[in-house]
Amino acid sequence: MAGKSKILIIGGTGYIGKFILEASAKSGHPTFALFRESTINDPVKGKIVEGFKSSGVTVLTGDLYDHESLVKAIKQVDVVISTVGHLQLADQDKIIAAIKEAGNVKRFFPSEFGNDVDRTRAVEPAKSTFEIKAKIRRAIEAEGIPYTYVASNYFAGYSLSTLAQPGATAPPRDKVIILGDGNAKAVFNFEGDIGTYTIKAVDDPRTLNKIVYIKPPKNIYSFNELVALWEKKIGKTLEKEYVTEEQLVKQIQESPIPVNIILAINHSILLKGDQTYFEIEPSFGVEASELYPDVKYTTVEEYLDKFV
Ligand SMILES: NC(=O)c1ccc[n+]([C@@H]2O[C@H](COP(=O)([O-])OP(=O)(O)OC[C@H]3O[C@@H](n4cnc5c(N)ncnc54)[C@H](OP(=O)(O)O)[C@@H]3O)[C@@H](O)[C@H]2O)c1
Repeated sequence: MAGKSKILIIGGTGYIGKFILEASAKSGHPTFALFRESTINDPVKGKIVEGFKSSGVTVLTGDLYDHESLVKAIKQVDVVISTVGHLQLADQDKIIAAIKEAGNVKRFFPSEFGNDVDRTRAVEPAKSTFEIKAKIRRAIEAEGIPYTYVASNYFAGYSLSTLAQPGATAPPRDKVIILGDGNAKAVFNFEGDIGTYTIKAVDDPRTLNKIVYIKPPKNIYSFNELVALWEKKIGKTLEKEYVTEEQLVKQIQESPIPVNIILAINHSILLKGDQTYFEIEPSFGVEASELYPDVKYTTVEEYLDKFV
């Protein structure tokens, strides 16, 4: 393990946090995870924590809202990865303050794991969420904390598993709703691969103060291409309903939380093409599958096979 940075993960029981914590534990990086007392004692989450302990993770007790516990945890590691959820995004300034006080952190990965929030054209309410993440970026940069931002694009479990059909539990077999003309390209990644790429970036000088885009070539699809692929796999042509941008924006405005947020994120990704409309310039970003060609990522084709 000599030379491998010690990693602390805050949010390891969360949806993406579990994958990142697992990848860290498997990678040979000494791995620490901060959990709240209530989480450790919870009958369901406690089992997840026990599982991590048996895979070699050092479990620390603490809370995002307990400064001393954060500083104490951070002092034991080199790299901090936050995977806190939607409701805690703005409060990551507390992690920034603790990193400043601890003074030993070589790299901070804030909770991002989605679109590049500096290059999005989202409408409300997604716009405000992305702005919170952008504000955290600016705070990290202002404090001079070394960072990596992971733009992991769409989680497959949130997109491919239903072809992004609202309320669906599986990809559609009869009818599919297509946003806009269906030609904007998006990127769909398996969560386990997001974990692997994130941990590979930890000690890599090429990812220092950069955005790591997870954009492997076989996972970039327009929605029309995705539907065509799915139709081929199930041997059936689906009925298609096209929703114009105007109709979608109206739907977003009239929907309750969290449906409006999901629709606004889909608008940004599937209608505007926010994950793919710009070039990754070396001055701000790098692409994960180019950096780590040895990683055998799960392709969209392979992922969809599970649902056939
Ligand atoms: N690209 C995509 O398709 C996509 C989809 C969804 C989310 N995301 C992004 O992924 C990131 C993580 O979201 P998620 O949905 O995976 O999160 P999540 O499931 O809501 O998990 C949040 C984590 O934060 C922990 N946490 C909450 N309050 C805490 C506190 N006071 N102290 C310490 N830990 C605390 C939770 O612990 P407990 O278990 O104790 O509650 C949990 O582990 C976000 O930035 C989100 O925007 C991306």
